[in-house]
Amino acid sequence: MCGIVGYIGPKSVESVLLVGLQKLEYRGYDSAGMAVLGDGEIATRKAVGKIAELQKLLKNQPMFGTVGIGHSRWATHGEPSTVNAHPHLNKQHTIAVVHNGVFENYAKLRSELTDDGYVFLSETDTEVAPHLMDKYLEEGFSPEEAFARMLRRLDGQYALAVIAEKANQKIFFARKGSPLIVARGKSEYLLSSDIPAVVPICEDAIYLENGEWGYVSPEGVTIFNAAGDIVTPKWEPITVSIEDVDKGEFEYLMLKEIYEQPDVFERIFKERLDETFIHFPELKFGKEYLARVGRILIQACGTSLNAGMIGRIYIEQFSRISTETDYSSEWRYRNPLTSGDSLVVGISQSGETADTLAGIREAKAKFMRVLSFLNNVNSTMARESDALINLMAGPEIGVASTKAFTAQVANLLLFSLYVGSIKWLIPSEERAKILSELRMVPDMMRKILKNHDSIKKIAAFLKDKNDTIFLGRTYNYPSALEGALKLKEISYIHASGYAGGEFKHGPLALVSENVPVVIIAPKGEIRTKMISNLKEAQARKGKIISIITEGDEEIKKESDFYFEIPECDESISPLLVAVPLQLLAYYTAIERGCDVDRPRNLAKAVTVE
Ligand code: AGP
Repeated sequence: MCGIVGYIGPKSVESVLLVGLQKLEYRGYDSAGMAVLGDGEIATRKAVGKIAELQKLLKNQPMFGTVGIGHSRWATHGEPSTVNAHPHLNKQHTIAVVHNGVFENYAKLRSELTDDGYVFLSETDTEVAPHLMDKYLEEGFSPEEAFARMLRRLDGQYALAVIAEKANQKIFFARKGSPLIVARGKSEYLLSSDIPAVVPICEDAIYLENGEWGYVSPEGVTIFNAAGDIVTPKWEPITVSIEDVDKGEFEYLMLKEIYEQPDVFERIFKERLDETFIHFPELKFGKEYLARVGRILIQACGTSLNAGMIGRIYIEQFSRISTETDYSSEWRYRNPLTSGDSLVVGISQSGETADTLAGIREAKAKFMRVLSFLNNVNSTMARESDALINLMAGPEIGVASTKAFTAQVANLLLFSLYVGSIKWLIPSEERAKILSELRMVPDMMRKILKNHDSIKKIAAFLKDKNDTIFLGRTYNYPSALEGALKLKEISYIHASGYAGGEFKHGPLALVSENVPVVIIAPKGEIRTKMISNLKEAQARKGKIISIITEGDEEIKKESDFYFEIPECDESISPLLVAVPLQLLAYYTAIERGCDVDRPRNLAKAVTVE
């Protein structure tokens, strides 16, 4: 939530910051702004709305200089407006600050600074920072000392970048809770909330640890830890390529990421599978420990929790370990019961989600071990977990999670088979059968993607509806939740997912000819039960959209629309079902003229609780 960038170097600061902000736009798009230090003075430009608005402004009012900072905002304190947009400044416009996170003690600081004569223009918590720094500079401290003193006064979680006229060739930075990267190119440095902004011009990067702060200048990077001791920078090569973070020939990043799924699966299988067995080279937990785990508590948010709910079924079925799932934001507040053999599993694409991170911290405070399934293995969760499993989905930038979801489900399935095998619970023939079906998933997904035109027809029907119901059972109950989440998130059509068996216990009352029902009914044990749900909806004039196994003539006949997936084992079906549900949400949003990659009110990484 909120993206920050900073640049010092020979290129056009305005252009580098603008490209950086475009790459970080997924983090927030309520407003954008930048401050550039040129000829000893700070100039700022701010615009409400997407980065394109700021770009228009810059066309008429360009900026020149060698040092600058920029921000894309997801509003927390104060509505989206120019006055609330970052950068925030002191009265003389000699200090500019961009901030991601929340200063929890801002009200107290604001009143103290107001008593000192400082005038606040915005409703933001951020504005206390430039005034505080100003105060310490006025008291005669050097810019470095003023910045350090300011940090000591700020509570909460944040990533910050600051420029000041008195520190002509420096950008100050600090990280406490929110991510921040320092990256270097050729005689130039970039600060950024995430990797996509630095990929175009940088070769290596430092992933700052919590509590670290410092400054970049043309001479290099200086980093201190929270105690004020100098830290030796740990440069790591950037392995992400420009193609990974660019939408290429696709209209939207979400569509590109949907189409990347077969390749993601091939990558996962290449890394994890050999002829007969499953491997997790990055997993720090030994086989003996995993065989002794007696209970698993999965906590995650949104799509990641939906994946976790499928994972729960896998783990109970294949690893025979009692498993619970919960929203992170609920789990941590319900004083969860702990036992020595409990393992807490966090699942997150970004590895920065505040609720999931708080859940991990709660687990650790209760002396439980934590294993996280993460797509960003340089994230805060990666650092704070005892062990991790790399989802290997590649950078996911579209706000609506797609390839990370299927990668989560696949890795959870492989993990459950791995633990089950360690415990000698799965006969090798059964494991071999599931693995050989899994290897066919990429081609099955390609086949589904080729058939996208039939989804477009369903989307054209759905576009005028206000409500939609998604139903599934067992493995595909979470698929129903995920299908509904995708649709509401990007098309703004109200959608709810239910377990098929629960339909008649209340949600059935919603069905009418204007409320279509998506029935997820691939071949398997629960197919006939799903037919009962279909009949129940049909009897109330509900239009039926079904997701079925190829050649299921019986359900086809009963459906107003249907989409066929290739035949597969029921346990693997969520991986295939996910693709038409993602496409359905995507094309419906397109039909309704929605900005798919920038859904209203949302941001990719939710770093506030
Ligand atoms: C999914 O489409 C959503 N954008 C959202 O529910 C997301 O999955 C959730 O915020 C969790 O994010 P994470 O996986 O990065 O922790």
